[in-house]
Amino acid sequence: MKKEQSIRIENLTKSFGSGDSFVSVIDGASFTINKGELVALVAPSGAGKTTLLMMIGCVVDPTSGQFWLGEEKVYNNRWLTNNSRQIRREKIGFIFQAHYLIPFLNVLENVTLVPQTNKIPTKEANAHAMELLKYFDIAEKAYNKPSQLSGGQNQRVAIARALANNPQIILADEPTAALDTERSISVVKMLKKIAAEQNVAIIMVTHDERMLKYCDRVMKIEAKKIVFE
Ligand SMILES: Nc1ncnc2c1ncn2[C@@H]1O[C@H](COP(=O)(O)OP(=O)(O)OP(=O)(O)O)[C@@H](O)[C@H]1O
Ligand SMILES: [Mg+2]
Repeated sequence: MKKEQSIRIENLTKSFGSGDSFVSVIDGASFTINKGELVALVAPSGAGKTTLLMMIGCVVDPTSGQFWLGEEKVYNNRWLTNNSRQIRREKIGFIFQAHYLIPFLNVLENVTLVPQTNKIPTKEANAHAMELLKYFDIAEKAYNKPSQLSGGQNQRVAIARALANNPQIILADEPTAALDTERSISVVKMLKKIAAEQNVAIIMVTHDERMLKYCDRVMKIEAKKIVFE
């Protein structure tokens, strides 16, 4: 099977502030990630992992460079669309350290929130969400609130939610930081399986060396550039 590109980045830079408060975080990052890959992102605190993820997620504006999502060029020293928020809703899935499920919505409603915002009909959104909940072995909790689930169960719901809009890429910022080792391994194995089975790219920030062997590649930020191990 031919490898399909999920994202391509050329010469991306990001700095904050100006004058005395100027700080350069990323300076000339270039890389490609293909669909089906689980990539770990490892670097010391403050190196720019979250900043890089948020640029890929169209949440933070790069300073300069070029960026393709799938085959579509979305950034060339400026966003090439006047609605980067829509790209984010339609093409990106996010998983965070804390699950950030909405406490007053049940599990099913949490998973269908973004598809509903994208105007997917309720019936279709619910059917897809139930499929995902079954896949994650959590369908029996569909009508429970997040407060009635365990940490690991909520993180699985959060992963289902990230998949609900059939994203081009899933960005996971330390998704296992709040879990014990056994649960962390099970979440990472799950991400690996999703990447392969759903043919989606996943970038996962982790500080835990034990998770690296489950990933296809390890990406690092060194001297403000991206290197692969
Ligand atoms: N909005 C901002 N304004 C100014 N500086 C910022 C801003 N956001 C991030 N930075 C700076 O950019 C650098 C990278 O931050 P980032 O949060 O991306 O690091 P990180 O690798 O995710 O760290 P951690 O492992 O601690 O989460 C830091 O020096 C930070 O202070
Ligand atoms: Mg961070």
